[in-house]
Amino acid sequence: MNSLFIMIIYLLLNVVNCSITTTYYKQLIDQRTREARTYKIPKNNEQFRKGIESDDMQNYGEYDFVVVGAGSAGSVLATRLSEIANFNTLLLEAGDEEDDFSQIPAMMIYNQLSRKNWGYYSTPQRYSCLGMNNQQCMVPRGKLVGGSSSINGMIYVRGSCKDYDKWSDLGNHGWSCDDVLPYFKKSENSQIRGDNGYHGIGGYWNVEYSLPSPDLLENIIAANLEINQSIVDYNGRSGFGSNQLQFNIKHGKRQSLAKAFLENARARSNLKLVTNILVTKVIIDPESNVTKGVEFVTQNTKFRALAKKEVIVSAGAINTPQILMLSGIGPKKHLEEIGIPVIADLPVGKNLIEHPYLPVVLHTNYTIKDTTMENKIDLYLKGLGPLTRPDGMTGLAFINTKNGVPEGPTIEMLFTEPNPDLSIIAKIFNLKETTAAFLTEMNHPESDITINLLLLRPKSRGRVFLKSISPTDFPNIDLNMLSKQEDVDTLIEGLGYVWRIVQTNAFKNINATLLEIKMCNNVNNIKRKLECLIRQMTTTCYHLCGTTAMGPDEKKFVVDDKLKVHGIRNLRVVDASIFPLPVSGHINAATVMVAEKAADVIKKMYEE
Ligand SMILES: Cc1cc2nc3c(=O)[nH]c(=O)nc-3n(C[C@H](O)[C@H](O)[C@H](O)COP(=O)(O)OP(=O)(O)OC[C@H]3O[C@@H](n4cnc5c(N)ncnc54)[C@H](O)[C@@H]3O)c2cc1C
Ligand SMILES: *[C@@H]1O[C@H](CO)[C@@H](O)[C@H](O)[C@H]1NC(C)=O
Ligand SMILES: *[C@@H]1O[C@H](CO)[C@@H](O)[C@H](O)[C@H]1NC(C)=O
Ligand SMILES: *[C@@H]1O[C@H](CO)[C@@H](O)[C@H](O)[C@H]1NC(C)=O
Ligand SMILES: *[C@@H]1O[C@H](CO)[C@@H](O)[C@H](O)[C@H]1NC(C)=O
Repeated sequence: MNSLFIMIIYLLLNVVNCSITTTYYKQLIDQRTREARTYKIPKNNEQFRKGIESDDMQNYGEYDFVVVGAGSAGSVLATRLSEIANFNTLLLEAGDEEDDFSQIPAMMIYNQLSRKNWGYYSTPQRYSCLGMNNQQCMVPRGKLVGGSSSINGMIYVRGSCKDYDKWSDLGNHGWSCDDVLPYFKKSENSQIRGDNGYHGIGGYWNVEYSLPSPDLLENIIAANLEINQSIVDYNGRSGFGSNQLQFNIKHGKRQSLAKAFLENARARSNLKLVTNILVTKVIIDPESNVTKGVEFVTQNTKFRALAKKEVIVSAGAINTPQILMLSGIGPKKHLEEIGIPVIADLPVGKNLIEHPYLPVVLHTNYTIKDTTMENKIDLYLKGLGPLTRPDGMTGLAFINTKNGVPEGPTIEMLFTEPNPDLSIIAKIFNLKETTAAFLTEMNHPESDITINLLLLRPKSRGRVFLKSISPTDFPNIDLNMLSKQEDVDTLIEGLGYVWRIVQTNAFKNINATLLEIKMCNNVNNIKRKLECLIRQMTTTCYHLCGTTAMGPDEKKFVVDDKLKVHGIRNLRVVDASIFPLPVSGHINAATVMVAEKAADVIKKMYEE
C-alpha cells in the first residue's frame, strides 16, 4: 500500500519533471530563435574599448603556459597540458560559456546571430559572394568556450590521406598520413562501425550518427550507388565515396571540444580558464626575440600575464594572425603601413584557405514528415530525432571529378534538407534582397533537397590583414575565393555530378528537378552562365585556415614543423591557421589532430 503510494507519487513527479523540461526547451527555442531575428551584429570589439584604452596595467601572475583561445585546438591543448601535474596553464577566452541552446544540433545556425559569433564579414569580393549585400560574405567564428566547435555543423571528416603526405612533402617532418593517423584515433570515441584500424574507441570526443536516419537517406545512398559511388566509411581506408554523416554529438547533443575535453580538466588546480577577456598582444622582447607573456583586457582593465615556458596562440585562422600582427609579427611592409614596429617579417595572414560552398536546390514530390516541437523535444531528451541532426544535414559524397590518377577527391556533395527559416538563411548568408527573393519564390522546405558543393582543394588564396593598430577593430578578411579560373571549372564539373544525381532512378522516383535560378539570364553561353551563377551564389564554408602556415622556409611559412614561430623563442601557434595546404573535407577533426600532436611535442620537450 505504502510503496504503491510512493510509486504513484514518483511517477507523477517524473511526468511533471519531464514536461517541465519540455516546456523549458520550448521556451528556450522560441526565445533564442526570436532574438536571432533582431540581433545586431557587432562591427568591432567595442565591448572591450574601455579596457583597451585604459592606461592602468595590472599583473595577472606567471604561468608555465599561456594559451590564447579556448576553441577547438585550445580546449584540446590546455586539457592535454594539464595532464602533467607540474605544468601550470592559463587559458584565455574572449567569449562566454556554452548553454543548453547552443547544444541543440538542429539549432546551429541561430548561434551565428548571437553573441556566440564574433560577427565578421569578408571585405567586398570580386570573384565570389556576388549575390550577397555589398558582395560581402558573412564569416562566422565561434566566440565562446569551445570556439567554433561550439557553433559549427558537427560533421566529423578527417580529410584525405594524401593531404597530409603533401604537408610532409613541403618539409614538415612528422606530418605524413601515417604520422598523423594515431592522433586522429587518440581523441576519438567512435560509435559507428567504421573500417578496422582507423578509429579510436575510448577517446574524449564522441562520433555517432543522428538517429533515426531520415527517410531521404535511402534515396541519397541509392542515387550515389547509381552514379557508381561506393558506400564507404569516408574516415577509413578510402577517401572516396558516399555515406550518411558522422557527427560529433553525444546522445544527440553537440559535443564541442570544450564538452569533450575541457570539461574533464576544468577542475584541475593547474589549469585556469578565464572568459570574457580579449587578448590584445603577445609580449616579445625585441632585443632577444624571447616571448614574455600576453596582454589582455576585460571590459575596463588591462592585464599582463607572464609565461615561464611558452605562449601558445590558438585563436583561430582569423584572430591568430590578427594577434600576431598586433604584436609585430607579420609582413614588414603591411606592419609599417599600419604603424606597428616589426619584430619578425613573416607572411602572417597570407595563404588564407577557404572551401567555396555552392548550394544547389532540387524540388521533389517527397514530403518530409514533420511533427510538433514538443514531440521533437521529447525525442531530443532521449537523444533521438530531428533536433539531434545539425541543420537537416543527411549524407555526403567525396568525388574525384578529374581524369587520371586521383590526388584525392576534388568535390564534396553535402546533402541537406533546406532550412525553412528563410529570413534567417538570408541573414546568415547576407543575401541581397534580389537573391533572397529568388530563393523565397522557389523554396518548398517540406520537399526540397539541397546539394551543397564544396570545392575541396581550391587553388585561390585570400588574406587576413589589419585595419589599424587598434585591437578594437576587426581584421580585414579578403576571402578571394574563385580568383583562379581553375576553381570555377572544377565547380562546374561538380555541377555535372549534381545533374547525374538528378537523373538517377532513386531521384526520379521522387520527381527531383533542378531549381531554375532566374539570375544571369542575359548570359547565353551555357558555361558562362554557370560561371555567372557560381560567382553569385558561392559563399563561405566556414573552413578558414592556413594564415600562419607551417613549413621550413621563413619567407613562405610562419611556423616550423614543431609549430614554433620562425625566429621567435617560446611562441607557438596551435590551431587551423597552421595548415599549409587545404584539407579535403571539413576541418575540425584535423584541427584537433594538430592540437593532440602539438601537446605531445610540448610534453616531450619539457618533461625531460
Ligand atoms: C558555422 C560553422 C560551421 C562549421 N561546420 C563544421 C563542420 O560541420 N565540421 C567541421 O569539421 N568543421 C566545421 N567548421 C569549422 C571548424 O569548426 C573550425 O575550423 C574549427 O573549430 C577551428 O578551430 P580553431 O581552434 O582553429 O579555432 P576556434 O575554434 O575558432 O577557436 C578560437 C578561439 O579563440 C578565441 N579567441 C579569438 N581571439 C581571441 C582573443 N583576442 N582573445 C581571447 N580569445 C580569443 C575565440 O573566441 C575562440 O574560442 C565550422 C565552423 C563554423 C564557424
Ligand atoms: C557506372 O558503371 C557502369 C559499369 O561500369 C557503367 O555502365 C555506367 O555507365 C556507370 N554510370 C555512371 C553514371 O557513371
Ligand atoms: C514532377 O515535377 C514537375 C516539375 O516540378 C511537375 O510539373 C510534375 O507535375 C511533377 N510530377 C509528379 C508526378 O509529381
Ligand atoms: C512523385 O513522382 C514520381 C515520378 O513522376 C511518381 O512516380 C510518384 O508517384 C510521385 N509521388 C508522389 C507522392 O506524388
Ligand atoms: C629576431 O627575429 C628576426 C626574424 O626572424 C631576425 O631577423 C632577428 O635577427 C632576430 N633577432 C635576434 C636578436 O635574434
